[in-house]
Amino acid sequence: MTDSPSPSPFPSPAQVAREEALVREVVASFDGASSERLKELLGALTRHLHGFVRETRLTEAEWAAAIAFLTRCGDITDAKRQEFILLSDVLGVSMQTIAVNNSYADATEATVMGPFFVDESPHVPIGGDVAQGASGQPCWVEGTVRDTDGKPVAGARIEVWEADEDGFYDVQYGDGRVSARGHLFSDSAGRYAFWAVTPTPYPIPDDGPVGELLQAVGRSPMRASHLHFKVSAPGLHTLVTHIFVRGCEYLDRDSVFGVKESLIRSFEEQPAGAATPDGRAVEGKWSRTRFDIVLAPDRGM
Ligand SMILES: [Fe+2]
Repeated sequence: MTDSPSPSPFPSPAQVAREEALVREVVASFDGASSERLKELLGALTRHLHGFVRETRLTEAEWAAAIAFLTRCGDITDAKRQEFILLSDVLGVSMQTIAVNNSYADATEATVMGPFFVDESPHVPIGGDVAQGASGQPCWVEGTVRDTDGKPVAGARIEVWEADEDGFYDVQYGDGRVSARGHLFSDSAGRYAFWAVTPTPYPIPDDGPVGELLQAVGRSPMRASHLHFKVSAPGLHTLVTHIFVRGCEYLDRDSVFGVKESLIRSFEEQPAGAATPDGRAVEGKWSRTRFDIVLAPDRGM
């Protein structure tokens, strides 16, 4: 497609009428949708998409470039690489969806799931090590799980996962290794603790179309250092979140807009030889942090 001349930013009244009539016609075409919700979603999508085209006076070349971009996102997506989630993340749509769905004031705040969660992670006992050979400085993480009444939640399933010191998740190595991920259950007092590695910053996969987009606008692909949590218990709203490392240089420019002040924690570095909470022998320095989790009531969402 060749570049067409820029359309006039000032459409005539007749043109405006034609554009508005088309929006009404498309919205009405969904009247027979199988549910009111589907009709609402498609109607709003149509109004907003057409609003975007009309506001920007989108050129045909730009439309074609957008289709080509989305096609490349599809081409690079497979079972292990999800470019559309990355796109949603860097546009802030993932965080906006989380904001809309996690508004319970007294509960721990949620943040993005990210693309590296794996369903079947190894079980570790309380005080166990989820690092499983991942490179990085040992880190002791402890806390409690409570509900919004302050009652301890026993038996909460706590999934944790993180990148290693080199900035990679186990699944990115492609050699079948399982490391820096696991799950454990809170005890009868809602307590939990585990060893992991001190989180370090890493780039989101930026060798595809989303990386090109970031480069075109001068944005960094780096994510602020974090440790992922997914915490679930019967009758309570499942929490997907991270804790972030206080002092990380990327806290104010996380590439997916995931940082929330309430989720920043001090990871206190301990000198070599310092006694560990569980008596484990650790070579060199290690760190420790605390994350007390509050789960919201289940609202059937
Ligand atoms: Fe992550």
